[in-house]
Amino acid sequence: MGNREHWGSKIGFVLAASGSAIGLGNIWKFPYITGENGGAAFIFVYLICIVIVGLPVVVAEILMGRTTQRNPVGAFKALSGSKFWTAIGGLGVLAGFIILSFYTVIAGWSLGYVFEALKGGFSQLGTAAQANEHFDSLVGDPTWMIGFYTVFFVFTMAVVFLGVKDGLEKGSKILMPILFIILIILMIKGISLKGSGAGLAFLWKPDWSKITGQSILIALGHAFFTLSLGMGALMTYGSYLSKKTNVPNAAVQIVVLDTVIALMAGIAIFTAVFATGQDPAGGPGLIFNTLTVVFGNMTGGYIFGLLFFVLLSVAALTSSMSLLEVVVAYFVDERGWGRHRAVLVLGTLVYAFGLPSALSFNLMADMTINDLTFFDSVDYLASNILLPFGGFFIAIFVAWIWGLDKALIELKKGAEKFFDNQPYLIKVFKIFLKYISPVMIFIVFLHSVGLLESAYEQIKNYWIIIVLAIVILIIIVSRNRKKK
Ligand code: PHE
Repeated sequence: MGNREHWGSKIGFVLAASGSAIGLGNIWKFPYITGENGGAAFIFVYLICIVIVGLPVVVAEILMGRTTQRNPVGAFKALSGSKFWTAIGGLGVLAGFIILSFYTVIAGWSLGYVFEALKGGFSQLGTAAQANEHFDSLVGDPTWMIGFYTVFFVFTMAVVFLGVKDGLEKGSKILMPILFIILIILMIKGISLKGSGAGLAFLWKPDWSKITGQSILIALGHAFFTLSLGMGALMTYGSYLSKKTNVPNAAVQIVVLDTVIALMAGIAIFTAVFATGQDPAGGPGLIFNTLTVVFGNMTGGYIFGLLFFVLLSVAALTSSMSLLEVVVAYFVDERGWGRHRAVLVLGTLVYAFGLPSALSFNLMADMTINDLTFFDSVDYLASNILLPFGGFFIAIFVAWIWGLDKALIELKKGAEKFFDNQPYLIKVFKIFLKYISPVMIFIVFLHSVGLLESAYEQIKNYWIIIVLAIVILIIIVSRNRKKK
């Protein structure tokens, strides 16, 4: 353990962790789900979820990593000694493996669009229908899909191959500021477009009638995905921290950066969408089908289009490398592999596992199980089951099993002043992690696996699950108490 690599600086860690958090979730997904769920009111709910559920779990994950200096499996093992909890860490590694396999497919689209931009292709896309057709023809071409998927994957492996300081940290330090600058330029450009006011109003003037149970749950689920929570990415990054770092402070910075970038992306995209009279509820194709038209029709569209897709690819890269790092860290820490071997072997395995996802838009589009393609199935499994499941157990673990008293002693290291100055915040953190976060996550989880949609009819199953979960928890907690 003595020679474990560490971040060179706190800012290096904050940028790398923000790099993990900021990704396709912020720039591709956040705008389209905001568009589909009514704009400002949805953003309001999302922000509440980020603060009351996201932030406490971010602190918990980083803290587990820093305390144990281990990957998720090693961290749970070191703190609990129990097989059950070690397996929860294992699910995190599995989630990392699966998410990486399909995340890189969408990242490949983004990279492909960098080349479309370079070729000047957007100038031929005058209408959304043309853009749509173009998009469909690109993703419908297996060579195009696999080609860019492969290139993006090689980039991801290359960074992780170089290691923590020379790869992850240096990469993030260069890539994150670029992303920030490009986004600021695009935001200013968006606001300056004629008719952008309607886009701003959509983002800031809440229509509360749009808030439904469903949209609250979508907001909460997205809070998880966007903060890279629930599978140990932040835990793994936290494991390369020394005890000198102020964790609450770093956590707040990461969460603020992630949120600011999502809002900036929202401004850049919706001003443009409204200025050109397009539909904000355009779904997953929103940025590919609407922004390309915007770029195609505007002066300077060539350069702004190029910048935008470079930005999206960069954001995706700093996230995908954190996903691969989780899997690699497990094999390095727990199985004694060298980093290079782990990157090559596991990278290749994840790559192979991702091929059917890349083919889900063309050759394998008709091979579906329950109407879901391979891509849809792995996305559903990871985003809607493994992540909320993991987040729930991380909150429960830190608050109830490891125990808040012990966790707070660890948290205080490097943050002594913060503790003395902010006794209330520490109290709030305790209440949130112990009660509010797990209950909220549990609700999202039930929703994700489809149990809440038909809650009225299913209320019986629903209660049985809650009662069962509580009984299991009480057993685990009481057994753990006895052990001590
Ligand atoms: N947070 C990333 C994004 O918003 C996705 C991600 C999820 C990365 C989980 C790592 C772990 O795009």
